[in-house]
Amino acid sequence: MGSAGSGLGSAERPLRVAIIGSGPSGFYAADALFKSGLAVHVHMFERFPTPYGLVRFGVAPDHAKIRTVTNIYAKTASHDNYRYWGNVTIGRDLTIAELEKHFDAIIFAFGAETDRKLNIPGIELPRSYTATAFCAWYNGHPDYRDCHFDLSHEVAVVIGQGNVAMDVTRVLAKPVDELAKTDMASHAIEQLAESKVRDIYCIGRRGPAQAAFTPKEISELGEIPGCDVIVDPKDVDLSDVDKAELELPESKSNVRNMESLVEFSKRRPTGAKRRIIIRFFQSPTELHAAADGGVGEVVLETNKLSGEPGKQKARGTGETETLACDVFFRSIGYHGVGIEGVPFNADWGVIPNELGRVEPGKYAVGWIKRGPSGLIGTNKKDSEESVQQLLADAPSLGGCAEPSDDAVTALLDSRGVRVVRYADWLKIDAAELERGKAKGKPRDNFTSVAEMLAVLDQ
Ligand SMILES: Cc1cc2nc3c(=O)[nH]c(=O)nc-3n(C[C@H](O)[C@H](O)[C@H](O)COP(=O)(O)OP(=O)(O)OC[C@H]3O[C@@H](n4cnc5c(N)ncnc54)[C@H](O)[C@@H]3O)c2cc1C
Ligand SMILES: NC(=O)c1ccc[n+]([C@@H]2O[C@H](COP(=O)([O-])OP(=O)(O)OC[C@H]3O[C@@H](n4cnc5c(N)ncnc54)[C@H](OP(=O)(O)O)[C@@H]3O)[C@@H](O)[C@H]2O)c1
Repeated sequence: MGSAGSGLGSAERPLRVAIIGSGPSGFYAADALFKSGLAVHVHMFERFPTPYGLVRFGVAPDHAKIRTVTNIYAKTASHDNYRYWGNVTIGRDLTIAELEKHFDAIIFAFGAETDRKLNIPGIELPRSYTATAFCAWYNGHPDYRDCHFDLSHEVAVVIGQGNVAMDVTRVLAKPVDELAKTDMASHAIEQLAESKVRDIYCIGRRGPAQAAFTPKEISELGEIPGCDVIVDPKDVDLSDVDKAELELPESKSNVRNMESLVEFSKRRPTGAKRRIIIRFFQSPTELHAAADGGVGEVVLETNKLSGEPGKQKARGTGETETLACDVFFRSIGYHGVGIEGVPFNADWGVIPNELGRVEPGKYAVGWIKRGPSGLIGTNKKDSEESVQQLLADAPSLGGCAEPSDDAVTALLDSRGVRVVRYADWLKIDAAELERGKAKGKPRDNFTSVAEMLAVLDQ
């Protein structure tokens, strides 16, 4: 492709694109821009010194292989026209209007940072937690390092049956020696070592044929040493509508899930130290406090499914069960947070867009574009789609008023913001790997921004 109109994208006047967020979607967008054939300068802004979003702060530490996807992003970052602006929060350190002044186009890649709300009475009780906080905490996310999860009781209940719920359930169930060999944050390993949790209920509002987890993640629950997995055979006895649903082309993964669930339903408990009890067709309606003021019970309403195959919805029957529950985790999805100056649909937690175009010159990618679903790889096609819109618009983009990196640096300097470059991140990375060696872990991550910045002063 040649250069765009007004010379943008030519060697004389490269297209200047600011990407907000350095998770998978941001990196796939950068890669697509570099492959466009235009001269493009990519400036990636990230609120932490460390890049990679949920690949660092979400992916479970015992799934180390998945994190190696960062090798691909590192290659993108090695492009001559890539510039990393770490430790810069857009909306606080720089406004959208300022980015517009210095960049020709902006790509929003800032993910979905909070949790979808579960509004039931008692949800604010002590020992009622979000999976969002728990996963961020065990991954050493700076915002969550001081969280405390009270695991001093026996019964945990996890609501939701997506892959995040699988991560939470697995981490609660796994022997701590196995977790200690991973890059899990040391503070989490210490607290999990003291865990008294014995029974972990994983509860879905719909049936086994609708569960959102994927085959590898559910089968893994059956391989945890010292842990029984229990599924009621009645729950895997499918209705005719379920059977028809599993025939649908989009149900391939559910069919494989069923294989694991049916196998689990045939297992006999061995009296293992821990048990995972997978339940279906139940929704929490209320949490009751125990004598100490923390969660003591959860009220679960039985659901019935109705609707066509592939569109079945859960409806409460009015029938309830009260289950002893000492610690409660809700894992029912993430939710996007807006940035001032960016159009935002607060109900859906996404930026309204069409194929990624928010308006000419502004594009969205990843979870803030389509909502909090999809694997890391899903973001590649999604980012490419948005970059296509940007490239289609490029000939008619006017070009920013002041295409200057120095002007951006001056603004940040004037606000006392210490910018972390990609080469700086590589120093932090090396220090984390070195700390890991001393602890017999693949790496030991810094969990505060101050610690990360201190590495750069050495
Ligand atoms: C707990 C968990 C575990 C997961 N595990 C897996 C897995 O094992 N395998 C898999 O394939 N997928 C997994 N996923 C899904 C995968 O992580 C997502 O598909 C992917 O990370 C979404 O990419 P993103 O770029 O849209 O968002 P993110 O990865 O969230 O990246 C957004 C980035 O934007 C930054 N940011 C936010 N606000 C600002 C701001 N104002 N200024 C500057 N920067 C900002 C954030 O700090 C972050 O770095 C997991 C998801 C979760 C929640
Ligand atoms: N190992 C991995 O590959 C991995 C690990 C973690 C995350 N991820 C990916 O990251 C994405 C996000 O994962 P996620 O687990 O947060 O979301 P998810 O896959 O959307 O699952 C959300 C779960 O919460 C349930 N739910 C939603 N609202 C509820 C409510 N009000 N009451 C009870 N249950 C409710 C959903 O049930 P319904 O189906 O009935 O709506 C579903 O079981 C997914 O695409 C996931 O695959 C991948």
